[in-house]
Amino acid sequence: MADSILDAYKVSHSQDDAVKADRKIKVGIIGTGWIADAHADSYKKCDDVEIVALADLVPGKAEAFAKKNGLENVRFYPSDKALIDAEKDIDAVSVCTYNRQHAPCTIYALEHGVNVLLEKPMCVTLDEAVEICRAEKKSGKILSIGFQPRFDENMKLVKKVVDSGVLGKVYYIQTGGGRRHGIPTPFGTSFIRDDTAGIGALADIGCYSIDMVMNAIGYPKPLTVTGYTSGYFGKKPDYLEKPEYVNEFSVDDFGAGFIRLEGDVILDFRISWAMHMDSPGDTILLGTEGGLRIPATDCWNGSIGGPLVVYHNVAGIPVETVIPEVDYHGNNFDRKIRSFIDAVITGGKAPIPSSQIIYNQAIIDGIVRSNKLGEEVKIEIPEI
Ligand SMILES: NC(=O)c1ccc[n+]([C@@H]2O[C@H](COP(=O)([O-])OP(=O)(O)OC[C@H]3O[C@@H](n4cnc5c(N)ncnc54)[C@H](O)[C@@H]3O)[C@@H](O)[C@H]2O)c1
Repeated sequence: MADSILDAYKVSHSQDDAVKADRKIKVGIIGTGWIADAHADSYKKCDDVEIVALADLVPGKAEAFAKKNGLENVRFYPSDKALIDAEKDIDAVSVCTYNRQHAPCTIYALEHGVNVLLEKPMCVTLDEAVEICRAEKKSGKILSIGFQPRFDENMKLVKKVVDSGVLGKVYYIQTGGGRRHGIPTPFGTSFIRDDTAGIGALADIGCYSIDMVMNAIGYPKPLTVTGYTSGYFGKKPDYLEKPEYVNEFSVDDFGAGFIRLEGDVILDFRISWAMHMDSPGDTILLGTEGGLRIPATDCWNGSIGGPLVVYHNVAGIPVETVIPEVDYHGNNFDRKIRSFIDAVITGGKAPIPSSQIIYNQAIIDGIVRSNKLGEEVKIEIPEI
């Protein structure tokens, strides 16, 4: 289990480290693009939080963001560093930049004693993930990674079914997902350029599929990866919102990997932003006592695509047990923000810890490396 291996480095937070709850928690948002709106919305719902500062590299963008989101009395900065340097008593920041800036912004904030909620994917390379974990260890601050599907009540059923033991020992997992026509260019090209995103579909939505199953089985350490990526569709003008984006497209739109995990488990994974297929299939977990089918979604809406089905034998007879979906209408994003703030207040454990997500990043990094080399690669994570 990742927790037991990597949590060894974590300092335990004492109550003295915790922010006292008799005042509002001061929060900043670094990167005021698309996803920052959701962070602002959820922070605004927390009575004990005030957004005090915003930073964006694009002149005027943070100011326009404040106006759109009705944020008053906030200070504006032209970069993450300017914000962290000036806001000496800030408690926490959301890092909502494009992927290539995840590591530098997170490390700088942690080095200055600021708690961080980091958007997914954790970063671009495994080396960056290691540096982030080292900064976290040194700082003793909270770092949580923004996987909001973890808070979905139906998603939680996946782990509950595995933990119940009904599957026996899980030995093979097929997961992933994808869209037939869905290369994201919501407000420009930051998802499809190498210098901003660094990785395409593989990290953008692939990290969610990997998290769903890795979390369910306790995040075992990845050992080896055979990976493949391609980018055929981003080069076709009719697959992009604006034809001129074709010249900007420099990441993958499809990725696949065959990963050996500690404990003799195989993870067979594929993900796409665009393909000539409706779906690459449901997620399945095969165990010695039962199998679990998780119906695919129109990737990635943060929940399951229908009731889970367990395939097992009763009195030697093959049967299927349908797990009813939970009637849940909560807001996963609000839960992600609230759980982070609670951890900051109590000095407790990060809700989505880096000690798990570093393995998620290691798999993505392994797929990229293996694709470049054209052969299987070993995953080696240095001491944190
Ligand atoms: N959790 C989710 O559901 C979800 C959904 C969408 C995007 N995301 C993630 O959020 C991140 C941002 O996505 P987005 O769509 O908002 O991107 P975006 O391109 O719309 O916004 C990113 C912003 O960060 C700014 N920025 C970059 N580096 C900076 C720095 N050093 N200091 C200050 N500002 C900086 C950019 O100028 C830009 O305005 C991505 O990593 C993406 O994967 C998560």
